[in-house]
Amino acid sequence: MPLLAVKKVVKDYEGVRALNGVSLQVEKGVIKGLIGPNGAGKSTMFHLISGMEKPTSGNIAFRGVDIAGKEPHEISGLGMGRTFQTVQTWGNMTAVENVMVGMHRKLIGGILSCGLWLPWIKREEKEVLREAFGMLEFLGLSAKWKWPAFQLSYGEQKILEIGRALATGPELILLDEPAAGLTPQEVQALAEKIQQIRERGTTIFVVEHHMGMVMEIADEIAVLNHGELIAEGRPEAIRDDPRVIRAYLKGTVYA
Ligand SMILES: Nc1ncnc2c1ncn2[C@@H]1O[C@H](COP(=O)(O)OP(=O)(O)OP(=O)(O)O)[C@@H](O)[C@H]1O
Ligand SMILES: [Mg+2]
Repeated sequence: MPLLAVKKVVKDYEGVRALNGVSLQVEKGVIKGLIGPNGAGKSTMFHLISGMEKPTSGNIAFRGVDIAGKEPHEISGLGMGRTFQTVQTWGNMTAVENVMVGMHRKLIGGILSCGLWLPWIKREEKEVLREAFGMLEFLGLSAKWKWPAFQLSYGEQKILEIGRALATGPELILLDEPAAGLTPQEVQALAEKIQQIRERGTTIFVVEHHMGMVMEIADEIAVLNHGELIAEGRPEAIRDDPRVIRAYLKGTVYA
């Protein structure tokens, strides 16, 4: 049984068919890439998988559970984390608090609004702080653990967001363009981090336009074009696939 199985998913927005009968699978333990031109439906696919939006039709199963009608917090509770195409850290919270928010979610199943935050944080503070700090160490951000998130560089904020998504100890993590806006050195560091995250037992599904990184780290790549899956396979095969080259890769430099 694949960890994630998307079957014949359709998503219509007003006047736009963003996904048109897409089926794909993510096996446990892999790094899977999702690529394709702007507007192909990649982020839409992630919104559906994470429960932020509902498919118009089709099925999505995560760990064998039908999740197509479930709310984001239920899906996250089943063991799925995600990051967004635009940075979504809490700017005024410190780096370590941003990760702690992710852990809070895991333990209570709700979010700050439940009002348990303050008493809870006092009770569990030390242990959670230690765990969150450990996550920042893993990500190379521990020297800035007390910095408000808005003072971190763009690249650091993107890494921090990954840390928050990982705080729940997910089985699967969805990363939407983690390399966008990063310097070449940061992209290289990110590629290594993603591989380490996989080694620690989390399966990765990553949307990315940075072809050098995707081709380097992915075990398998799915390609969307105009809401349809046009190819799926190993990076070498995708790179040489005439349909993919025509739709997307023409002129790509694998920096
Ligand atoms: N909320 C929405 N309402 C209407 N149309 C939408 C909405 N969200 C996405 N779309 C449309 O659905 C299509 C797919 O968009 P999506 O954001 O999934 O593309 P993408 O592959 O992530 O592109 P990019 O690489 O630019 O991030 C586009 O035509 C987009 O304009
Ligand atoms: Mg997108």
